[in-house]
Amino acid sequence: MSERIDPGRVPKRTLYTGEEIPAIGLGTFGSDKYNGEQVSKAVYGAIKSGYRLIDCASVYQNEDQIGEVLKKLFEEKAVTRKELFITSKVWNDCHRQVVKSCKKSLADLGLDMLDLYFVHWPFPNYHAPGCDGDARNPDSKPFSIEEFMDTWRQCEQLVDMGLVRYIGMSNMTIPKLKAVLPLCRIRPAALELECHPGFQQQELFDYALEQGICPIGYCPLGSPSRPERDRTPEDIADTQMKEIVEIAKAHQVHPALVCLKWAVQRGQIPIPFSVKEPQYVSNLKCIMEDPLTEEEMKRIAGADKGCRLVKGQVFLWPGASGWEDLWDVDGKQITGSVGECLKAID
Ligand SMILES: NC(=O)c1ccc[n+]([C@@H]2O[C@H](COP(=O)([O-])OP(=O)(O)OC[C@H]3O[C@@H](n4cnc5c(N)ncnc54)[C@H](OP(=O)(O)O)[C@@H]3O)[C@@H](O)[C@H]2O)c1
Repeated sequence: MSERIDPGRVPKRTLYTGEEIPAIGLGTFGSDKYNGEQVSKAVYGAIKSGYRLIDCASVYQNEDQIGEVLKKLFEEKAVTRKELFITSKVWNDCHRQVVKSCKKSLADLGLDMLDLYFVHWPFPNYHAPGCDGDARNPDSKPFSIEEFMDTWRQCEQLVDMGLVRYIGMSNMTIPKLKAVLPLCRIRPAALELECHPGFQQQELFDYALEQGICPIGYCPLGSPSRPERDRTPEDIADTQMKEIVEIAKAHQVHPALVCLKWAVQRGQIPIPFSVKEPQYVSNLKCIMEDPLTEEEMKRIAGADKGCRLVKGQVFLWPGASGWEDLWDVDGKQITGSVGECLKAID
């Protein structure tokens, strides 16, 4: 019998409606390393241990197996649907078929409604799951306000249809958010962004909070098992950063747990992934005990390396100069003809 942590004791974050959700969740991307059976087994064990927020996506290709364990948990009365907060995401090749994609995720997960549905990437640029880092799709296109808003309108429709409770964005930048937020009829409840001590995205994090959008931090441990395509020789491992290692020693915990304590104390919702019970249990438990001191929090804030791990180069379009083009690093305002988008909310 796995260790059980009372979900009522898990800290909470507040969405713009005032609804509270857990301040930590479980990731479900197997990183091309762990199969659906291993991941779903972890979801089963994690929910039994006290996790209530599960971060899913159609592209992780395991929603059907996760659906099976959810069914089992409901049958066993281990948890009720209402106690869970389940997210999913529309993949890049379904930006024109959001309702169909969401219905497929719902069917796979065996649910009538998702709590939060993300636009996984702000581009319709498809790459096959498990592709190499140098794979490119000649049909890829740069970000377009019109294209994105067309996808967002379909997400809004999902809320109207009662298929999802909240909608969210992922892998956005401040210029992209500034361009699209004024056009949203239903605003995003959450923003999923890469976030770990070596890549803190402070400006984007602050901007999201200012806009009442809840930041959900992915790769909170620096994704040590990430796929080959997301590795470069310059990458810095968070769990080997001097500051993290020293703070971990002081608290006598694994450096991964320092990353999670920092994340929760800073205010994002980390969604660490693990298929190993001792890891996912300690990941949840650690945020409720032995907090980092103010000084340690400041030390980690000052240790940001600006080291983006998920560079997204596989989404680049012909003529793009490099992965930085995906992230608006020049900070330039994004313009486009927004007339049609505005008309839709009149
Ligand atoms: N929106 C997006 O575009 C996006 C992108 C990426 C990820 N995500 C989401 O974010 C989730 C988390 O990101 P991630 O899975 O890439 O990376 P991560 O959570 O930073 O790292 C997961 C890995 O860390 C190790 N680990 C976990 N707990 C540990 C512990 N207590 N001690 C030591 N090592 C530990 C495990 O490695 P070993 O398996 O080697 O032990 C595990 O596979 C994903 O699963 C997915 O749900 C979203």
